[in-house]
Amino acid sequence: MDLGARLKGKHVLVTGASGGLGEHFARLSARCGATVTVAARRREKLEALVLDLRACGAAEAHAVELDVSDEASVEAAFAALKDGPPLDVVVNNAGIAGTGPSIDTQTAEFDRIIGTNLRGVWLMSVAAARQWRDAKHPGVILNIASIVGLRVIGGTAPYVVSKAGVVQMTEVLALEWARFGIRVNALAPGYIVTDINADFFATEPGLQMIRRIPMRRLGQPEDLDGPFLLLATDASAWMTGATIPVDGGHLVSAL
Ligand SMILES: NC(=O)c1ccc[n+]([C@@H]2O[C@H](COP(=O)([O-])OP(=O)(O)OC[C@H]3O[C@@H](n4cnc5c(N)ncnc54)[C@H](OP(=O)(O)O)[C@@H]3O)[C@@H](O)[C@H]2O)c1
Repeated sequence: MDLGARLKGKHVLVTGASGGLGEHFARLSARCGATVTVAARRREKLEALVLDLRACGAAEAHAVELDVSDEASVEAAFAALKDGPPLDVVVNNAGIAGTGPSIDTQTAEFDRIIGTNLRGVWLMSVAAARQWRDAKHPGVILNIASIVGLRVIGGTAPYVVSKAGVVQMTEVLALEWARFGIRVNALAPGYIVTDINADFFATEPGLQMIRRIPMRRLGQPEDLDGPFLLLATDASAWMTGATIPVDGGHLVSAL
């Protein structure tokens, strides 16, 4: 089964596409021949990416400046998108991390992380679902959760809580929106080096963590390609509410 071919001609929106995994998912979708809309706050990064996406096979590529934590920004983006080809897939990838003991974490920091990682997924998902329901158009939501949404680590509690919320949101929205032909699934990646964690993996605790991964290595963005294409396409037509760990076995590491 050629999973990539199933994305050809679909319109895929990726949030947090100005770098890291989001940029990777946008490039992958473009190589499959999808129309790709990339969204994030840094417009200049997106505009450079759009040129690349057109060059590497995207049917069309567009950039939209968007802050997923800001309701007005999300509404404006979806209002603008109404004029283009209908969306088929929304990838809720935008996310931020923060480290520190919970006891010293400021409320503003908690709000910032929850606001992006949890509220952002909610705002984007509801806006997409309303458009799909009103247009009687099927849709796919693919949330990028994390293994820490399924099993905790210390020192990054707001992030852990936000990702656990994304896992539950995936299930409850799948339950409510199956009737509209909207499927909602999630990937729960293990550790993949990007800007979000590169500093950590250069430290001794980071190196120790790599030694606890059963496959003894960090993930590469390409390790997500197969699971991404599965959940983004009708290859997963009878899947909804699922969260798939992709982690080199990290979740099953020995206690
Ligand atoms: N890397 C990993 O090991 C790993 C593991 C599990 C899960 N994840 C998840 O995968 C996703 C991507 O992570 P990454 O490693 O690629 O991180 P990254 O390299 O730091 O990229 C994060 C992206 O999110 C965007 N973003 C942040 N806040 C935003 C906001 N309010 N509105 C719109 N866009 C926003 C950033 O763009 P702007 O600054 O331009 O807005 C950036 O493009 C995150 O949800 C993360 O939690 C990553």
